[in-house]
Amino acid sequence: MTNKILFIANWKMFGDLNSVKSIQSVINLSKKKNYKNAKIIYCPPYTLLNNFVIKTRKTNLDVGAQNCHYEINNGPFTGSISSTMIKKLGAKYVIIGHSENRSNGETNNLINKKIHSAILNNLNVIFCIGENLFEKKNKKTNKILKKQIGMGLKKIKKIDKIIFAYEPVWSIGTGKVLKNKELIKQVIIIKNIIENKFKNQKAKIIYGGSVNNQNINNLKQINEINGFLIGGASQNSKKFIDIIKKTIN
Ligand code: PGA
Repeated sequence: MTNKILFIANWKMFGDLNSVKSIQSVINLSKKKNYKNAKIIYCPPYTLLNNFVIKTRKTNLDVGAQNCHYEINNGPFTGSISSTMIKKLGAKYVIIGHSENRSNGETNNLINKKIHSAILNNLNVIFCIGENLFEKKNKKTNKILKKQIGMGLKKIKKIDKIIFAYEPVWSIGTGKVLKNKELIKQVIIIKNIIENKFKNQKAKIIYGGSVNNQNINNLKQINEINGFLIGGASQNSKKFIDIIKKTIN
């Protein structure tokens, strides 16, 4: 993994064959000398993974999936994709534990099994953690984060394969973002949890939740984070480029 600033585009359930072309302008930007420090990773829906892998060949961009099954071998799991399939396709990353999947019944235990499978396949894991509004209001944030990290990464040794994506659930798609001061405080708490558990001080932490081309000027000032997981604003190349430009310049 790199020490660059991460811009991870989570396209969720958006995009069709036509949208593959739209990333050309992002590829062009990534080739410019000034942007060598930006690591851009696209996570499109499964239906476009292969197209994105082909489109980003011989570029600095990488591709990731948005989830995977915990079983590494083929099996009777209708509708699922294994980390082995993702790896064989040429993608290098996988998002695991996104709150939109947690809210559909993905437990910390299941997430842990998925992470084991991804790491067995040598994929980098974008591991999503974050509290919901109820938990925040009840001052349970730190307890929840500790539990998500502890259970999600149980018996995981290759901690350098994990990118921690802190995404407060109430911030996703809502336009609401923590004030920098509070976000820094929260990220430091996450760093401490990781350090205590894994004796690792170099863990990469990114922020996600309503990142856009307006609030990026503010968010980029946070030295404690290594980049961003961007949903809505990443599906529009103009806005995505704007975010990258404002961060780097
Ligand atoms: P958002 O999504 O940027 O649209 O809030 C972020 C995410 O869910 O990863």
